[in-house]
Amino acid sequence: MSSKKIIAVIGATGAQGGGLARAIAADRDGPFAARAITRNPKSEKAVALAKLGVEVVAGDSDDTASIERAFAGAFGAFCVTNYWEHFSAEREGVQATAMARASKKAGLEHVIWSTLEDTRRWVPLGDSRLPTLQGKYKVPHFDSKGQVDSVFANEAAPTTYLLAAFYWENFIHFGMGPRKGEDGKLVLALPLGGAELPGIGVEDIGRTAYGIFRRGASTVGQHIGIAGESLSGADMAAKMSRALGQPVHFVDVPFDAYRGLGFPGAEDLGNMFQFHQILGEEFQRNRDPLVARTFNPALADFDAWLAANAGRIPLG
Ligand SMILES: NC(=O)c1ccc[n+]([C@@H]2O[C@H](COP(=O)([O-])OP(=O)(O)OC[C@H]3O[C@@H](n4cnc5c(N)ncnc54)[C@H](OP(=O)(O)O)[C@@H]3O)[C@@H](O)[C@H]2O)c1
Repeated sequence: MSSKKIIAVIGATGAQGGGLARAIAADRDGPFAARAITRNPKSEKAVALAKLGVEVVAGDSDDTASIERAFAGAFGAFCVTNYWEHFSAEREGVQATAMARASKKAGLEHVIWSTLEDTRRWVPLGDSRLPTLQGKYKVPHFDSKGQVDSVFANEAAPTTYLLAAFYWENFIHFGMGPRKGEDGKLVLALPLGGAELPGIGVEDIGRTAYGIFRRGASTVGQHIGIAGESLSGADMAAKMSRALGQPVHFVDVPFDAYRGLGFPGAEDLGNMFQFHQILGEEFQRNRDPLVARTFNPALADFDAWLAANAGRIPLG
């Protein structure tokens, strides 16, 4: 039997957890083995992980008992929720609370909770700069995660809090990349309000989480915000122009206009971008590439990410 310590990874078939499972599997002589938790062990992504030697088990964070079973016998766990699957801050909170309590019940020694800021600490519900959403949130997909930090602090196994930045893959999969205008020229349109945007390549999130598990107990209780680089909209467009070999112009969309675009989550994302701008340098300081690099020396900046990924950006 292997003497490796098992890290149970929720979201292993997704972006954050997938990066972690692959980082663990790639370090063949390392101290850990990954256990992927998925609702569908037969999915293509689950089968691909199994081919890397990752143990794959069934688990659903809507079913607490299944998470307790999936955590049993492990050393640690990576906990992430997917707000964008259901758009419910309440449900995300219930799922994360189940993970936290299951980690304690299983006697785990180290948990990473992939959280984000509860923006209401900075922008209380009465502050009209951001419209209140779902009755009691400013940025539902941030607040729902941040409000569970206290559950991880009080009712979970020893926890490190990981705050990811805007995925640069959003330019590929989330419809946020450059689009051709009526004149045929490429436009990168985001609501930044003049602020810089901290961003990261998704594979680096999991690699950094791996570095946190390797560093171990000294990180417990810390909030570790990570980014590959913080850039202005104009700088991102300039770098895209070079990587794509054609000019990309940045347009800073007014926050209200973005909130009014009507796609699911538009108000949530509009508030998120405005929250970035309200916090300004503080938001960037909390996602410091220098800190991330101490856990993940291979961390890519935007040029490096573009060198590997520009060809995947759809130019519609
Ligand atoms: N996009 C961004 O820029 C950004 C930046 C920072 C943070 N985030 C946060 O990242 C989170 C999503 O993480 P991701 O991007 O790594 O996810 P993802 O790539 O969209 O994949 C979702 C993962 O969650 C798992 N999952 C969903 N519901 C589950 C459930 N009920 N039980 C067990 N597993 C479940 C899925 O596993 P199976 O389907 O295999 O069960 C899958 O592995 C979101 O909450 C978002 O707010 C996003």
